[in-house]
Amino acid sequence: MQHWSRRFVMKSLGAAVLLAGHPAAIGLSRRAMPVGKQTATFIEHNDLPWALETRRGQFGFGPITPVSHFFVRNNLPMPPPSVTDEGDHWSFQVSGCAEAGSLTLADLKGMNVQTIANVVQCSGNGRAFFPHHPSGSQWGVGGAGCALWTGVRVADIFERFGGVVDAPAFLTATGGEQLPEGIARDAVVVERSVPIEKGLRDCLLVWEMNGAPLPAVHGGPLRLIVPGYFGVNNVKWVRQLGATGQQSTAKIQQSGYRLRAQGVTGGPQHPSMWRMPVKSWLNGPGADDQPVLAGSATLYGVAFSGERGISAVEVSSDAGDSWQVAKLVGPDLGPNAWRTFSLQTTLDTGIHRFVSRATDTEGAQQPEQTQDNQRGYGHNGWGDHGLTITAVKTLPERELIATAERASVVPATPVQTPPVLVLSDQALAGKAIFDNQAQPGCGVCHSLAASDARGAVGPNLDTLKPGLAQLRNAITQGVGAMPAYGGQLSPVEIDALAAYVFEASQ
Ligand code: HEC
Repeated sequence: MQHWSRRFVMKSLGAAVLLAGHPAAIGLSRRAMPVGKQTATFIEHNDLPWALETRRGQFGFGPITPVSHFFVRNNLPMPPPSVTDEGDHWSFQVSGCAEAGSLTLADLKGMNVQTIANVVQCSGNGRAFFPHHPSGSQWGVGGAGCALWTGVRVADIFERFGGVVDAPAFLTATGGEQLPEGIARDAVVVERSVPIEKGLRDCLLVWEMNGAPLPAVHGGPLRLIVPGYFGVNNVKWVRQLGATGQQSTAKIQQSGYRLRAQGVTGGPQHPSMWRMPVKSWLNGPGADDQPVLAGSATLYGVAFSGERGISAVEVSSDAGDSWQVAKLVGPDLGPNAWRTFSLQTTLDTGIHRFVSRATDTEGAQQPEQTQDNQRGYGHNGWGDHGLTITAVKTLPERELIATAERASVVPATPVQTPPVLVLSDQALAGKAIFDNQAQPGCGVCHSLAASDARGAVGPNLDTLKPGLAQLRNAITQGVGAMPAYGGQLSPVEIDALAAYVFEASQ
């Protein structure tokens, strides 16, 4: 009997779905890439919600990142096509002005239209370089891109409603994502506030990216652009725009996206991820472990500083003992764009490491180390962002295989036999916590076949196959739109829950 109590056989329903060949339902395969994005361009951190990092070697010399190459980071699953296809009919509410009301995208197109170049960068870009392994996607350099955004100034929109009243302190924008049922709105809603002076100075509601309609995955039909501020502030699928007295009460504003020391829970007393500090990195040649020919080479990369622009970039081949001034390449597209830079050098055969250091127009210089912090936000230290280049005498022969040929050698999908899952005692205890105890329940947002959970707000745990440390971190502290459970579950319970998800998803 003892033997059977240790054994948990996968529910027949899960097994039936598996045999019926609907892998998406139980998560044996990842979702198809968003429209216009190719797998080879990105590192896929997550498919629900999307987290796609541009590979370092995919950035070019030019200052504009094509939409096909632009990173994606969503906090919640995006609204369905029936919503994002509203086009000119898309409407949003305006509050905090002399009159309240709503506008459509068609109305905006009849107003004073502007275009700006602006870098959008995920707060967690560079998280992979922090030694303490903060939870969340492990972004290297590619959680950033620079695009042309076209839209109407928030100030002009508020003017249309008679201007702001009651001396508001913040601009607050609310995203149009569908929220899961059974969870408090503030726990998951994507709603961000920035200082009202900023909002009225240069923020825009935009519907075009690089001269084409804003794709749904980037917030189309309509998103906010907060020039020079971290990605999270640039709310997608905007449904409400308000001049407000207080910051949003949403978790993503109150405790999320706050810079604080390791081990500290975020709160309104900690600095919010607003303006992006000065930062640069090299993108090539030779990124992503592609060997380059020894001899003369042109190093290139990007540099930016929110609201300030760049005055100089230097490059070092000896870990910062000596620096050479790089050339700024191409047009200066304004204080919120990135500047591309290049430097001629000669590479002997062997391995080289180059670092870059930018200085902005107010004299702020990129530091060697970044400020260590709990969630791994805002990394701009030049030390960790170096590019390692392998220079060789002759380039290796490239194997050129036609796509059709390659397709024909892909092995047929093996027939799946329903797995029989045997859980440890600890994991069995964790299953009860997953299924019944944790509030809100994990299955509200996640899929996990062993618990017959079908949530579709966070990553499918069967596909993600999270590690034990990753699980403990996420459960204790929360991550993105996922709540923290450190307050309601004991360390023993968290360990059991982690063991369950780990064993059930392997
Ligand atoms: C309100 C919805 C919600 C609930 C409830 C929820 N999660 Fe999540 N979870 C998410 C979302 C969204 C993400 C993706 C976070 C991101 O990267 O922005 C996530 C991410 C994760 C990750 C990956 C963390 C990483 O390092 O990227 C794990 C593991 C996880 N959740 C486990 C759990 C477990 C176990 C529970 C139950 C205790 C739970 N979640 C409850 C929404 C939720």
